[in-house]
Parts: sequence; C-alpha cells; structure tokens
Amino acid sequence: ADYFARPKLLAGRKVVVTAGPTRERIDPVRFLTNFSSGKMGYAMAEAAAEMGAETVLISGPVTLPVPKGVQRIFVESAEDMLNAVNAEYETADVVIKTAAVADYRPIDVHSQKMKKQAGGSTLELERTTDILQHLGKTKTHQLLIGFAAETNDVGHYAKDKLERKNADYIIANDVSEAQAGFESDTNRVTVYGKGGFEQSFEMMPKLELARRLLGLIMEKEDLHDR
Ligand code: CTP
Ligand code: CA
Repeated sequence: ADYFARPKLLAGRKVVVTAGPTRERIDPVRFLTNFSSGKMGYAMAEAAAEMGAETVLISGPVTLPVPKGVQRIFVESAEDMLNAVNAEYETADVVIKTAAVADYRPIDVHSQKMKKQAGGSTLELERTTDILQHLGKTKTHQLLIGFAAETNDVGHYAKDKLERKNADYIIANDVSEAQAGFESDTNRVTVYGKGGFEQSFEMMPKLELARRLLGLIMEKEDLHDR
C-alpha cells in the first residue's frame, strides 16, 4: 500500500511538451518538413501525465494517438508552435522541446499552386524563430529541457545548445545510429546539464526512456524551490 501512496513526482505541476515535425508551406499543395515521427515527444508527454502532471502536448502533424491524460494541441508551422508554446509558458513549470522544428521557411508562400517551368528553380528561405532559445531568454521560473539530434560530435553540439539556448538540460541522440531517433521505437540518449552534468542511457523503448529521463531530472530538481 505504501508504494501506491507515494506522491507522484509531478503532481500539481504543469508540463508542456512539443513533439513532431513542423511544416513550412511553399504553396497550397507543398511544404518543407523533416523525418520526425513525434514518437519521443508523445512518450515524454505520456510519462509526464503518468507522473501526475497536467500535461499539454503541442504537436506538429503526426498520426499518433493522444496519450492518456494528455491535452493535445495541433499546430502546423514553427510560427504556430511558437505562438502555442508562448500561450502556455507563464503557467508552465516544465517545458520539454522534443519537436524537430524547421530551421528555415520559404520567404514567399504562394497562394496558388506553382506551375513548373522549363529549367531549374530555386527556393528562397529565411530562418524561423528558435523557440527554445526564445524560451531560454524569457525564462522566469520554468525548467527548460531541449533535445538535440546530431549525426556527429554529439557531446560538443549538445553542450553548445545547452549554453546558447539557456536550457537546463539537453537530451542528445545520435541519429546516424540505427534504431535511434526518428522513426524508431527505441532510442539511446545522453543527457547534458549545467555544471558539466552528463549521463548516458542504454538503448531502450521510447516510453521507458521517457519515464527514466523524467525520473532522473525531477529527482535532481526540486521544483518546490523554483
Ligand atoms: N528548436 C526550437 N526552435 C527551432 C529549432 C530548434 O525550439 N527553430 C529546439 C528543438 O526543439 C530542440 C533544440 O532546439 O529542443 C535543438 O534542436 P536542433 O535542431 O538539434 O538544434 P538547432 O539549434 O536547430 O541547431 P542545428 O539544427 O543547426 O543543429
Ligand atoms: Ca535544427
């Protein structure tokens, strides 16, 4: 009975998770996107809800079912995601940015379908807002957790993102590795935190990994002090 009486680590807390890819429109029938499946973000949201958090999942276009106990908000573009996260930010205790946000979007979004022409073509792009960096700049009390997908120099780039975005943790995975990242149901990550904190996890199913990641971070952080 004692086991069930143990208070949940995230009871009374609000956790906002972003997941999936974003879509940046070119014209009414075309867009730029990436290979994110949304699975890791959905697993993080499921784990947060299990741990007792009020959980809001801001999701790019994916076909995954909404996890039990989670409120899902669908968005399309990086800008939509930025607006949705901003609306939840002040009341959030923890923000987890699992989404693979597009770094660039087309400068011109054509209102009619573009017709093909003779010869080649170029697409002019501009940068989207870095949502995590924006959250890092405007942080008041929130715990900020980012992800990083890298194909090389994982530790170097992850630590750089931790600093640059003023995040509390960066969870990095090597997407060049088979069975880790994107479409996979398993993942293998290393967590980087302030003050040189570093911990690697074995390859495991994404939900199990999400539970362990949240367990680790929430035991290290005493949210009551924030
Ligand atoms: N991120 C974000 N907004 C963006 C781009 C990235 O919030 N426009 C967040 C991601 O959700 C993730 C973290 O930043 O939590 C790292 O994303 P990643 O793509 O690995 O890093 P970038 O800073 O975009 O750098 P690069 O793609 O050049 O490696
Ligand atoms: Ca990026």
